[in-house]
Amino acid sequence: MAGQIPQRFIDDLLARTDVVEIVGERVQLKKAGRNYSGLCPFHQEKSPSFTVSAEKQFYHCFGCGVHGNALRFLMEFDHLRFPEAIEQLASRLGLDVPREGDDDPRAQQREQRREEAVNLLELSASFFRERLVMAEGSDARDYLERRGLSEDIVREFGIGFAPDKWESLKRHLGERGISDAVQIEYGLLVHREDSGRSYDRFRNRVMFPIRDWKGRTIAFGGRVLGDAKPKYLNSPETPVFHKGRELYGLYEARQANARLERMLVVEGYMDVVALAQFGIRNACATLGTSLSEDHLQRLFRLVGEVVFCFDGDQAGRQAARRALETVLPSMIDGRQVRFLFLPEGEDPDTLIRREGTEAFENRVLCAAPLSEFLFDQAAEGRDLKHIEERERFVTTVLRALERLPEGVLKSLLLRELSQRTGVEQANFQALLARADKTHGAHDAGLTDAPENTSSEAAPSSGNTSGGRRGVLSLVGRLLHLLVHEPGLVERLPESLDWCPDDEGDGALCHEVVRLIRAGGYRNAQVLLAHFHGTPEGERLAWLARRELLMPRDARGAEVESLVDGLRQRHSQRSPQEEYDALLARMQAGEGLSREERQQLNELLMELKGGTRPI
Ligand code: UTP
Ligand code: MN
Repeated sequence: MAGQIPQRFIDDLLARTDVVEIVGERVQLKKAGRNYSGLCPFHQEKSPSFTVSAEKQFYHCFGCGVHGNALRFLMEFDHLRFPEAIEQLASRLGLDVPREGDDDPRAQQREQRREEAVNLLELSASFFRERLVMAEGSDARDYLERRGLSEDIVREFGIGFAPDKWESLKRHLGERGISDAVQIEYGLLVHREDSGRSYDRFRNRVMFPIRDWKGRTIAFGGRVLGDAKPKYLNSPETPVFHKGRELYGLYEARQANARLERMLVVEGYMDVVALAQFGIRNACATLGTSLSEDHLQRLFRLVGEVVFCFDGDQAGRQAARRALETVLPSMIDGRQVRFLFLPEGEDPDTLIRREGTEAFENRVLCAAPLSEFLFDQAAEGRDLKHIEERERFVTTVLRALERLPEGVLKSLLLRELSQRTGVEQANFQALLARADKTHGAHDAGLTDAPENTSSEAAPSSGNTSGGRRGVLSLVGRLLHLLVHEPGLVERLPESLDWCPDDEGDGALCHEVVRLIRAGGYRNAQVLLAHFHGTPEGERLAWLARRELLMPRDARGAEVESLVDGLRQRHSQRSPQEEYDALLARMQAGEGLSREERQQLNELLMELKGGTRPI
């Protein structure tokens, strides 16, 4: 019969367990200041009075008074007895639960190993850090310097160096009484079955410690100093490290800012470290795996907004599509996701060094909201002028929407889809009906009343189209398009005489077009940087934040029709006066633009009795 569970095991277990995570897996939590809140699972309520504190590792309901730690929560929520709850927590960490007086020698051995492991990884991390500053670390120091990493940032991320030897860590740990078996279990040694020998896994590599949410080293990533393969070597899966769940840099980001609101997800170790060095301290990276639901859970437990950074190439777009698929089911109200595509051939590390912090921040500001990326994806390669293509577009979007939880985002997207395709929303509703039924009735009706949400909680800060956002003037809409896609300037006529320069956004529009043309800019952040700190800059930044829910290939035509609209409004003159004015200019030897010549032709048609093409 098994004896008592040792108290130190319980203490250690709780120290390694995050109550926010345990509760978050069972109750939908939202970040609220320093704490998390949600609907109390222990009593019926409509507004959340249940809070969880990461700091105190405690939950408390102001409504019914329940409170406790992770263990208590498991017992109450899952109706477990104490030892069962302990088992649960232990198995999450891959640990066996030891018993006092346990005389099974194997169990004792396991217990001993576990205790060793607690220190093992920390010992290894400091070993690597020490080697970096010693004589044998000089190549690595040179390498880090060439990569432009400051000493401060190297220290902050605990970066170290694994010497170019087969048994240096092995010996170091061995001298401290740590068995080979444990070192193998935690991925520090590689064991060769054939020869029965074991040697250091990481050799001649720059070492990045991967830390858990409490800052304890749980694994390593090691980079070669040159071009050898594999470029990065990561710890294998161990009892404390599960690659598909961890995010590099999360701990450091939390250290730098206790009240994070937005996280950037980038690809590589170096990206995280370089961004931090340049003051962007809210980046983390997956560890060479694609984004998982576990990652998302972690991220959204920490912040309300996540921006994914992708390379601008095909592989990047592919990764973005996969990420979109993964995030859809997680998009409950109050969560926001954006997609940032970097120029081809750049990663955040190279880009921030080239462009600087502000430009990078502006890029983040301009990142496409989920809705825009979703519609873009669905419209890609389709000519939406054709009914069949439009039908396929609708099907693609609806398939994505089916994976979204009920809520404001879904309603707004449905409304947008209806506006874009001219299909009544009720028809989509029928197509989605099956999916809807499974979600219960609590948010029925939301689709017709997106105003229900407070603008703060709405996705995209209430900037999604539809809903209550302000109506833009024609020039405003044009500016909106240009801010999101400066390249559209090519669709504008050469002369800007149709654009009023004395009202609304007119003057700014003139200036923006002039700048884009002069600089050949294709990125909005350059524009934003130019106007930074001025009222115009604020206006542009506001437009940049405002989502552009329009497929990319419809935008050019939209620009042209806006110009037409403005031109019509501008020409208060009668067609005859307009015609006379243009003719006079031409006769005076003034060159007319192509558009003006065309306009002249049209006026001619109209005045000579032909019908003016609309
Ligand atoms: P990248 O090849 O884009 O690396 O891999 P990087 O971060 O830009 O590295 P530098 O700038 O050349 O140093 C992105 C991430 O993919 C994983 C690592 O997590 C890496 O940071 N990866 C890459 C591996 O795990 N193994 C590899 O061999 C390569
Ligand atoms: Mn890189």
